[in-house]
Amino acid sequence: DADAVRTRAEALKHLDGALMPILHDLQETYGYIDEAALPIIAAVLNLTRAEVHGVVTFYHDFRRMPAGRHVVRLCRAEACQATGGEALAARAEQRLGIATGGTTADGRVTLEAVYCLGLCAVAPSAMVDGRLVGRLDEAALDGLLADLAD
Ligand code: FES
Repeated sequence: DADAVRTRAEALKHLDGALMPILHDLQETYGYIDEAALPIIAAVLNLTRAEVHGVVTFYHDFRRMPAGRHVVRLCRAEACQATGGEALAARAEQRLGIATGGTTADGRVTLEAVYCLGLCAVAPSAMVDGRLVGRLDEAALDGLLADLAD
């Protein structure tokens, strides 16, 4: 709620570049950054709401909606692009029936982009519910999505 968000933001506002730690704290606590939190953070840091909004939308790490029960993050950075990552992302979107950034209607899976997982040597790569996966191909991706059954 608003008071809790304000308290959390106040507790971190003394830090250098406090906006990022506050946003990370809120995402860790609530799983996403609610739109209603933006003006509260802006007021605490003496920023405009547009400035806070700009940062939240610029960084792909910040989620604007609650995530699904499973989170599939496909790497879209250079090494993964060069090894077929874009086609895999398109396949995942088609299989799940959602665009990147979206969550399936049943709340089962959220599909997100990530920009380098440090697994370039075994690209294309992904992170599935916090677990790193390398050497993805169509079969591996299909298997991985099928495993996220519940
Ligand atoms: Fe995908 Fe580095 S570019 S893991």
